[in-house]
Amino acid sequence: MKKRLSLALQQDLKKNPLKVKADSLVLGVNEGRVLNPLSSKIDKATNGVIKKLAKRKEFEGKVGQQAYIASPDGLSAERLYLIGFGKPKDSLSNEDINKILNSTINSIKSSKSKNTSICFPSLKYSSNSHSDSWFLQKMSTFLESKVYTYDAKLNKKNKAINHLKKVNLYLDSSLSLSKQRKALKTGQIVGQGVNAAKDLANLPGNICTPSYLASTSRSAAKNYAKLSCKVFGEKEMKKMGMDCLLSVGNGSAQESKLISMSYQGGKKDDKPYAIVGKGITFDTGGISLKPGATMDEMKFDMCGAASVIATMQVVSELKLPINVVGVVASAENMPGSKATKPGDVVKTMSGLTVEILNTDAEGRLVLADALTYVKRFKPKSVVDIATLTGAVIIALGHSTSGLMSNDDKLAKELLDAGKKASDKAWRLPIWDVYQKDLESNFADIANIGGRAGTITAACFLSRFAKDYSWAHLDVAGTAHYKGLAKGGSGRPVPLLSQYLIDKA
Ligand code: BES
Ligand code: MN
Ligand code: ZN
Repeated sequence: MKKRLSLALQQDLKKNPLKVKADSLVLGVNEGRVLNPLSSKIDKATNGVIKKLAKRKEFEGKVGQQAYIASPDGLSAERLYLIGFGKPKDSLSNEDINKILNSTINSIKSSKSKNTSICFPSLKYSSNSHSDSWFLQKMSTFLESKVYTYDAKLNKKNKAINHLKKVNLYLDSSLSLSKQRKALKTGQIVGQGVNAAKDLANLPGNICTPSYLASTSRSAAKNYAKLSCKVFGEKEMKKMGMDCLLSVGNGSAQESKLISMSYQGGKKDDKPYAIVGKGITFDTGGISLKPGATMDEMKFDMCGAASVIATMQVVSELKLPINVVGVVASAENMPGSKATKPGDVVKTMSGLTVEILNTDAEGRLVLADALTYVKRFKPKSVVDIATLTGAVIIALGHSTSGLMSNDDKLAKELLDAGKKASDKAWRLPIWDVYQKDLESNFADIANIGGRAGTITAACFLSRFAKDYSWAHLDVAGTAHYKGLAKGGSGRPVPLLSQYLIDKA
């Protein structure tokens, strides 16, 4: 995975923040005109500029507030940015911290700094699950993922310029330096994973095909001794009885693939955690064709797969002492003379037959066979990740992923991991009352039914996940941005990584 930032702790900042050479110095300042020793040093060196601003109420140090001082006197840094941290006695919520980090990156980016020094005061947290180590991890994921640019397919003269290359960080903390370093490193690796997922998501459907996902996974595995990758083509899947998965790619010239990655960081017989991603590299809807407007966004229908491939790399890079299996079910959903038609009945690998009433409900079809496939690993838990339904956007919008599970404990662990990693999910029920929406006149189950689209989709999946502890993340609203910021978000790589870090 590509590292975009050189990120280091710089204890010199504590001793003498004035002497540190950088394009910019970002200084965290508390509210209430009481300056901590560091800010006080800088205030004195700059002829009291911090206090002057505070007096004129231009910068009072309220949470997330920003001020800019060009060519400050007495500092080696060329620009000084002040970021408000609120009153020193007040504790900071996750939202406060997000404001602070956003202001920080906006400041750095606005100045086009190549290298910056960040100097933050000691922090108090409003949640007791937060700590300096949590903050440093969060911050480095944030910084690494915020300097992401995608221009792989642009001409040289149109390439985006990412100015920021180097960050030196000083946090007033009682945490040992080695622990600080570890938190920074962990966070940065998660950030690299987020960016790897964005890269895959952003590639167009004519490049990012099922075969492309397969070769990307294979070459990722070559980078790590403990990561391996096996790819099944259509012939092999046919032999395994995966007619349901295969039915989705029938209308496409692209060969469907089942990718199975395995990371062996634990003991040989430790049962693995499994993550399973929906990898529809383009979803036209098939014969149940989608309308034309914004159909281009259906290239993002492989974001679940991208998050699996990226998380496998994060886990390998972090050398977590656990075993993890990552499976991707990949196909292109196209209309065509061989395409599956509404009313067609297919047999799944599990034996259940499915009446395909709508060929646009294809994600659950590829996942059904992938969920049956992972049974062979006797997994401790299985989490599938899919841009599965438009309905989840109606329910939860673009900030929160939908979570459904047959296991309360697993659901809680994933919700907690999401909170910790600022990659939140919210649980929806999959009670039996919804299951009957999937009744079919012509097969064991239908592939659509009922008004609660996100829930019935999960109910469909649950039929194939009966033998293990399972959760489903519907990331249709969160895995990519729309409009001007159109592009992959890298979610839910932070949630998945945190879940596995907490398991290790
Ligand atoms: N890939 C789509 C879901 C989707 C919709 C993702 C919007 C991102 C944005 C999925 O394959 C799909 O088409 N689902 C249908 C299901 C319906 C036919 C029951 C949907 O949500 O409309
Ligand atoms: Mn679809
Ligand atoms: Zn789809």
